[in-house]
Amino acid sequence: MLGIETSCDETAAAIVVRDQSGRGSIRSNVVRSQLDEHAAFGGVVPELAARAHVTYLDHIIAQACREAGIALADVDAVTATAGPGLIGGVLVGLTTAKAVAAALNKPLIAVNHLEGHALTARLTDQVPFPYLMLLVSGGHSQFVLVRGVGDYERWGTTIDDALGEAFDKVAKLLSLGHPGGPAVEHIAKGGDPKRFRFPRPLLREARLDFSFSGLKTAVRLQAEALAPLGDQDVADIAASFQAAVAEIIAVRSRQALEQFAGLFPGEPIRLVVAGGVAANRTIAAALEHVCAESDASLVVPPIALCTDNGAMIAWAGAERFALGAKDGLDFTARPRWPLDLDDMKVATHGS
Ligand code: KG4
Ligand code: ZN
Repeated sequence: MLGIETSCDETAAAIVVRDQSGRGSIRSNVVRSQLDEHAAFGGVVPELAARAHVTYLDHIIAQACREAGIALADVDAVTATAGPGLIGGVLVGLTTAKAVAAALNKPLIAVNHLEGHALTARLTDQVPFPYLMLLVSGGHSQFVLVRGVGDYERWGTTIDDALGEAFDKVAKLLSLGHPGGPAVEHIAKGGDPKRFRFPRPLLREARLDFSFSGLKTAVRLQAEALAPLGDQDVADIAASFQAAVAEIIAVRSRQALEQFAGLFPGEPIRLVVAGGVAANRTIAAALEHVCAESDASLVVPPIALCTDNGAMIAWAGAERFALGAKDGLDFTARPRWPLDLDDMKVATHGS
């Protein structure tokens, strides 16, 4: 399976094999990050992202085939992210996949980017259904119940900023550069997480939603009140922000795991984490703690597979393909595409 991912600022292609028993293996996974293109702007510029995908995607696909030791014509099917994401980039990847599929006369599988994240743990750890996924990236913060391929239930989401976005904005206002997550984590190591008590928005409410915009504003107001900021102030703000976020994630995850246990009595409780924020050690430690308390097993795929990549798309495509899914060349790219729409269900053709 060839997998193509272009929904944000990574141009990625991979070759993944799924064997008869359902086990996957990655033959190649080439990711070209566009960090340099966007660095000067402090965030991803959609038009620049789309242009860079156009420039690099065919080379990345060729490299993925080369590294896997196969010819493009050897693939059984072609998969690409068809949404959600920055529409210019999604169009580049999906249109390229359609062209390859048409030229080689191979089936096309259009994949929901979130499904790619959701199923990665089955590629890396053969996690059986059902399980709970916490996706925390630059564009998403949500809990998803994964019942099966194409069968998802969103249990909570952010009502404003995504968690990675909050990290990026806090980094920007502390002049730490982009992407902000790793920079905030690094500087927070020398900071006092208890110096500032930042708000934990929505936490008193029972629903599993997140809100990070008020927290970000509280950080901004604190930074403005202390300006000019010394190095220790920056470290303390970063550490206090990270502590607030880790507590929010811990509390919500505990609730979500309780809900899972109630729904599937006697089933093993499994939490799978995806998205770039999974790289954060403070958040990961909080999740380890919650899972130990809740008698749940925690699965965190290697970080290169938690962030955007082609292998996760190829794998989701392979899982769908194995169930008989196939999409038409008229499949339209979607800027928005919630995972729990009915059209995620695997539609088999000819039956
Ligand atoms: O999954 P990802 O690579 O891309 C998508 O958004 O789809 O996630 C990127 C996000 C960025 O917002 C970045 O700041 C955040 O993940 N991130 C982190 C860390 N590493 C990356 N956030 C907190 N701590 C980190 N160590
Ligand atoms: Zn993603």
